[in-house]
Amino acid sequence: MILSLDDRFAKPFINDYFYDTTTVDLRKAIRMLRTGTGAGYTMRGWLTLPEDYDREEYARIKAAAAKIRKNCDVFIVIGIGGSYLGSRAVTEFIKSPRYNLVADGPQVFFSGCNISGSDMEQLARICKDREVSINVISKSGTTTEPAVAFRFFRNLLLEKYGSKAIKDHIFVTTDRYKGTLKNFSTEEGYETFVVPDDVGGRFSVLTAVGLLPLAVAGVDTDALPAGAGQAMTDLDTDIMSPESNPAYYYALIRNALYRIGKSTEILVGYEPYLFMFNEWWKQLFGESEGKGGSGLYPASVINSTDLHSLGQYIQAGKRMIFETIVNINSSDSDLEVPYDEANIDGLNFLAGKKLFDLNATAMKATVLAHYDGGVPNVILNLKDRTEYSVGYLIYFFELACAVSGYTLGVNPFDQPGVEAYKKNMFALLGKPGYEETAEALNERLNKQ
Ligand code: PA5
Repeated sequence: MILSLDDRFAKPFINDYFYDTTTVDLRKAIRMLRTGTGAGYTMRGWLTLPEDYDREEYARIKAAAAKIRKNCDVFIVIGIGGSYLGSRAVTEFIKSPRYNLVADGPQVFFSGCNISGSDMEQLARICKDREVSINVISKSGTTTEPAVAFRFFRNLLLEKYGSKAIKDHIFVTTDRYKGTLKNFSTEEGYETFVVPDDVGGRFSVLTAVGLLPLAVAGVDTDALPAGAGQAMTDLDTDIMSPESNPAYYYALIRNALYRIGKSTEILVGYEPYLFMFNEWWKQLFGESEGKGGSGLYPASVINSTDLHSLGQYIQAGKRMIFETIVNINSSDSDLEVPYDEANIDGLNFLAGKKLFDLNATAMKATVLAHYDGGVPNVILNLKDRTEYSVGYLIYFFELACAVSGYTLGVNPFDQPGVEAYKKNMFALLGKPGYEETAEALNERLNKQ
C-alpha cells in the first residue's frame, strides 16, 4: 500500500474497553455504508467514482481544459465549500501554493468563496488586458456567494468579449437537470459539466468539480482517479487493522480517542503545500460529522511554522487534542544546509544535511514531545507527492469520514446546519418571504 498508518503514539492512550466498544460500533457503521442502510445512503456515488464515471464527459473536460490552457491567461474558479476546496487543495499539493507565480499555463484564481468586494475588485484588476475564462461551480446553482461572483465576472466578460463570444469563456459545472444555473446555461449556450446526483459537494473532487480546474492547472487528471481507484481496491476489506484497512482503522482510533475526551483532531502537515489539503479535510470532516451536538472538531496546522504559534497550546494547553499527521515519505527537493565559514549561528553541525531530513527530524521530535505532553499522535505515511498518491489519500479520507460519521450516529452526507446563517442573512438582506424573521432578528440586534 502507498499509505500506511502508525498507531504507536496513539494506541497507548486507549484502554481495552473503549477500543472494543468502538470496534463493535464501527463494524455496524461499515455494514451500513457498504449495504446502503444508513442515513443519506443515496449519496454514496463517490465510493465507486474511480470506476463509474462518465467517459464522454471526461473527454469533454480534457478538451475544454486544453482550449482554456491555449487561449487564456487567467482562469477563475467560482465556487464555495465542496465546489472549490478540492481543486485548490490538489493544485497546491501537486504544483505549489505559489502556483500562480510559476504557472506554465493560465493563472488559476478562486472567487465566490467569500463575500469580499475588495477581493473581487483586486481579481478584476488582475484580469485587465488579459484573456480570461471562468468556471462557475455550484451543484444547487443557488448559493449566494458564487452567484454574486458569477454576476460580477460575467459582466466583466461581457464587456471584454461581447454577448456572442462570451460563451467561449464560460464553463458551468452544476446539477445534471435541475436548477436555475443549468437552465440559464442551456439558454445562453455555455458548456456544462455535471455534479452527479449521488455525490455531495465535499465528496466531489474527483468529478468535473475538481477535474476541470485541475486539468487547466496542468495536474495529471488520469493519475488522480487512478490513485483513488487503487485505494478503492485496497480498502475494500472489512479487516480493521492498520495493515489491512488503514482507513477503517483510522476511523476506529479517532472515534475511540473522541470517546476518551479527545474532542479536537488536528491535521498536521510538515510541508506548506499541504495547507489547502488541510482546509479540504476540515470541510470534509466538519460538515460530515458536526451534528446533533456531537462530533470531533477538525483543526489543522502546518509545521514547523505553527510550532512557533499553536505549538505551545498543543504541548501544554487543555488536553482535549489529538493529532493526525500526513507525512509525505519522500521529497522533490535535495536542498542542503549551506556551510558557513564564520559559523556565527553555530549551525555548521547541520551543514550538508538535507532540509527534507531536518524536517523529518522536526516531526519525530514533535511527535515524542506531544506524546509526552498527553497528545495522542496518529501518523499517516504517504509514499510521495504525486497525483496518484493524493488521489489515494482523498479516497482514504472520504471512506474513513463516512464510516466515522455513522459511528458517531449522524448522517455524514447532509449539512443542515449550514442553513441557519443563510436564513438569517436572507432575512436581514430583505429577501421576499423572510419578513417575519427579519423583524424578529432586527429586534434582537437593536436591543440595548
Ligand atoms: O459539501 C457540500 O455539500 C457544501 O460544502 C457545498 O459544496 C457548498 O455549500 C456549495 O454548494 P453548491 O455547490 O450547491 O453551491
